[in-house]
Amino acid sequence: MTISQNALTVLERRYFIKDEKGKATETPEDLFHRVANAIAESDRKYDFGAPVEKTAETFFNMMTRLEFLPNSPTLMNAGRPLGQLSACFVLPVEDSMEDIFEAIKQAALIHKSGGGTGFSFSRLRPQGSTVNSTGGVASGPISFMKVFNMATEAVKQGGTRRGANMGILRIDHPDILDFIDCKANNNEINNFNISVGLTEVFMNAAEKNTDYELIDPHTKKPVKKLNARMVFDRIVDAAWRNGEPGIIFLDRLNRDNIVPSQGEIESTNPCGEQPLLPFESCNLGSVNLAQMLKEQDGKQQFDWDKLAVTVQNAVHFLDNVIDANKYPLEKIDQVTKQTRKIGLGVMGWADSLLRMGIPYNSDEAIALGEKVMRFITKCGREESAKLAEKRGAFPLFAESILPKDQPQRNGTITTIAPTGTLSIIADCSSGVEPVFGYVYIRNIMDGTEMLEVNPILKAELLKRGLYSDGLMKRIAKEGTIAHMKELPEDLRRVFVSAHDISPEYHIRMQAAFQKGTDNAVSKTVNFPKDAAREDVARVYSLAFRLVCKGVTIYRDGSRAEQVLNIGKVI
Ligand code: CDP
Repeated sequence: MTISQNALTVLERRYFIKDEKGKATETPEDLFHRVANAIAESDRKYDFGAPVEKTAETFFNMMTRLEFLPNSPTLMNAGRPLGQLSACFVLPVEDSMEDIFEAIKQAALIHKSGGGTGFSFSRLRPQGSTVNSTGGVASGPISFMKVFNMATEAVKQGGTRRGANMGILRIDHPDILDFIDCKANNNEINNFNISVGLTEVFMNAAEKNTDYELIDPHTKKPVKKLNARMVFDRIVDAAWRNGEPGIIFLDRLNRDNIVPSQGEIESTNPCGEQPLLPFESCNLGSVNLAQMLKEQDGKQQFDWDKLAVTVQNAVHFLDNVIDANKYPLEKIDQVTKQTRKIGLGVMGWADSLLRMGIPYNSDEAIALGEKVMRFITKCGREESAKLAEKRGAFPLFAESILPKDQPQRNGTITTIAPTGTLSIIADCSSGVEPVFGYVYIRNIMDGTEMLEVNPILKAELLKRGLYSDGLMKRIAKEGTIAHMKELPEDLRRVFVSAHDISPEYHIRMQAAFQKGTDNAVSKTVNFPKDAAREDVARVYSLAFRLVCKGVTIYRDGSRAEQVLNIGKVI
């Protein structure tokens, strides 16, 4: 197989099996054989109609061709003693000392095995309320988040990466204002992404500029009123300052909760794309859309047949992962197998647009994004229904809100992950994000500079006789080619980078993919450095109107400022 140098470096550092001296004992092919064989084994439990070896070969081929990759824990742990294969977990945090520290222990076990955890802290009684058994005062959700954070710091994920957490607080929790600012002035809670859980009641109050009630989760009684627009502006201000908190729309997550009988969805995984019930886990996988093209009439277009087959095999793969997985807790094993959720998504979206000559920030790209994702979910459901015929529907299917005419093996099929490392392995653009930069200059040790040029741009410039090192250095410095008048207009329109794209187009693309996705979409809306708070507020309202499930924003340079302000280097 052909694999990029960056991919090889990442695999060597974190994915290959190593001997006691720390030397890698695997090649990329060995790794994909290990994973394909381990995951195909699940077929033995059921009659799949084909020999296990055949399934293993299919899985091996789609991974080595970089058409599909499962999430990192599967690549790292399949076919090995640890055997924990999922990236996403949500744990409940109940309002007692025993339960809080039980959750910290459970999170530590999950981090150790390579997974990330999400929590809602909304059930914890607010700071300053009484503790019956001691007569003392409660320290509140934020102080406990710091304990979770410290525990995470001490445990490395699967010995390879530090743990990641999502912390959520409902907008009607009495400590909400402190929560909104809890990551403003320090990096104490640095192992958490935080998001405010918004409700429609709140959003409507913010729009009408009226008050809303804060409720003590312990007594379930209203304790105070706040002006909703004031609180909304506080969230906007904090996000404008350094990108946190994000927001999630809880009512929407629960409208898509396929088994309301099992309780409410109150949190997502660390990067926000996978809402889950307490103790549920989910394994993700991504189709590389840049590998799903073919030439037709002299132009690159989607190869829908190839995409359909890849999705079928990917769904088969991800369903097998649920059985092959060694879960970090017995309870997670049980709860996960009740709904059998999987999260198939995409990467290489921006690359495929570049190949097709379609600008990311165009109505054509928005429409095509929605079409691709709806197609993937449709093919995925068909495959899941086929699996259900042979293996049975997921156990809670009868009480789920899914249409009853076509039993499904999996409660949800699609999720769009960030693909932070997967996209490096597959050498493509990440998730549904635009390309961030086309040229980077790397300083190598002996003081020389090395140019790293986006291969699609490079090929196009070479074809047109426009490639030069001087031009590449300029692009690296200026970050974009949009304003380079000496380059052909069509090139400047198509090869847009994240900052050439307006925040509205970022959100519209997220909304387009969300329409075709069962779970949620991981996406960062990039703002220029000089964006105003009102620009952020407008994007939040637009996301709400376009039925997104959450928003993450980042204003250029805002974290660097933060770091300078507090005089610390991270
Ligand atoms: O590309 P890769 O499979 O490594 O991960 P990703 O798509 O960037 O992230 C998917 C999910 O993996 C995140 O939402 C987290 O749940 C989890 N994750 C984690 O636990 N720790 C990290 N350092 C990165 C991701």
